[in-house]
Amino acid sequence: MLARYFKPSVLQEIAAKAGTPVYVYSAAVFIKQTAAYKKAFRALDPLFCYAMKANSNGALCALAAGQGFGADVVSGGELYRALRAGFEPGKIIFSGVGKTPDELEYALRTGLLFVNAESFEEVQALERAAAKLKKTAPFSLRINPDVDPHTHRFIATGKLGSKFGVSFEEAEKIYMYAAGSEHLKPVGAQFHIGSQVHSAGPYAMAAGRLAAFILKLASRGVNLVYADVGGGWGVREGSEMSDLAPLARAIAGVFQGTGLKVVLEPGRSIAAPSGALLTRVLYRKRGGSKNFIVVDAAMNDLVRPALYGAKHPVALLGAARGPLKKYDIVGPVCESGDFLAKGVPLPEPRNGDLLLIYSAGAYGFSMSSQYNSRPRAAEALITGASWRLVRRRETYKDLVAAEL
Ligand SMILES: Cc1ncc(COP(=O)(O)O)c(C=O)c1O
Repeated sequence: MLARYFKPSVLQEIAAKAGTPVYVYSAAVFIKQTAAYKKAFRALDPLFCYAMKANSNGALCALAAGQGFGADVVSGGELYRALRAGFEPGKIIFSGVGKTPDELEYALRTGLLFVNAESFEEVQALERAAAKLKKTAPFSLRINPDVDPHTHRFIATGKLGSKFGVSFEEAEKIYMYAAGSEHLKPVGAQFHIGSQVHSAGPYAMAAGRLAAFILKLASRGVNLVYADVGGGWGVREGSEMSDLAPLARAIAGVFQGTGLKVVLEPGRSIAAPSGALLTRVLYRKRGGSKNFIVVDAAMNDLVRPALYGAKHPVALLGAARGPLKKYDIVGPVCESGDFLAKGVPLPEPRNGDLLLIYSAGAYGFSMSSQYNSRPRAAEALITGASWRLVRRRETYKDLVAAEL
């Protein structure tokens, strides 16, 4: 269980010294997930590029880099963070549907592994950037394999009609164009079917389509090196690990022995169980038939419950007392959608008690905002028996620092 990595005595100390709300990460869990990926896929020996959008805190990225991972970035800002955190440029890939000319130039200057382009016009922009820098741009195309990943509609990306990627037909035309360009070097093909995907079937189907396409391209003289199967493998809220064996079997089943270097872009499955949000009870109240606990964290800190209906397990720190009652845990933001959990059975908390919201390490802090002019939370990392702050709490001055 995740609780053993988040000891109440350590959490009490973090809350006392760093204040609340605070994101708390476990280095042990994070490293365990990266090791699990390496073990499950050892026969394929792929390149793992940690999807930084899940959690781009430099301390966690440095842990991923230390495990030999590369990085999957989706903006110039993430690329900047990736280099700062110590990822080798030759293991960085740049994804995203709308990279600007400036971002493309920045990417090429770093000597990254490849750019994952998502349209013909973007490939032409990449070509112009490369020509300006007198370079040849290594690129891969994100292809939409038209596979339904059976996940929340906001995080399903692999069906035709989504804004992501290009069709196989379009991809073929783009690769043939690139083959004739002195500033473009087609090196890979990629798909990313969605996030929080729990079944390997859609991966097997998409991988099969990609492999057949790569073979067809080879017959036309374009020989790719990388088959990038994206990220998206799910992990249940509250679980310590996701079982990677079905995913590894599906991917190896298609690419083993093809000579292609497989690339994976896992984010959530590594970061989600590694982090929890620690928050303090401000007030208790009743509204109709409901019991509310008002805490000092809100949807600006953790938007997943409001955005995707995500259900994060919640624990009350300290000795259990009294019978369980069902509570809605809500924050101070002026939105009815501002809740962190609904109908959670808990012993009655007292004002000032601490609540721990599990499985908040991915798309938690990285999606947080200053909405309602709430300074963003601090972040702390537990390593062994000790912990340290890895991002300070923002101040009111931070809220206006960029205003002119
Ligand atoms: C291109 C790409 N790669 C990787 C990921 C990471 O997905 P996950 O965090 O679900 O593993 C995403 C997430 O949206 C993505 O868009």
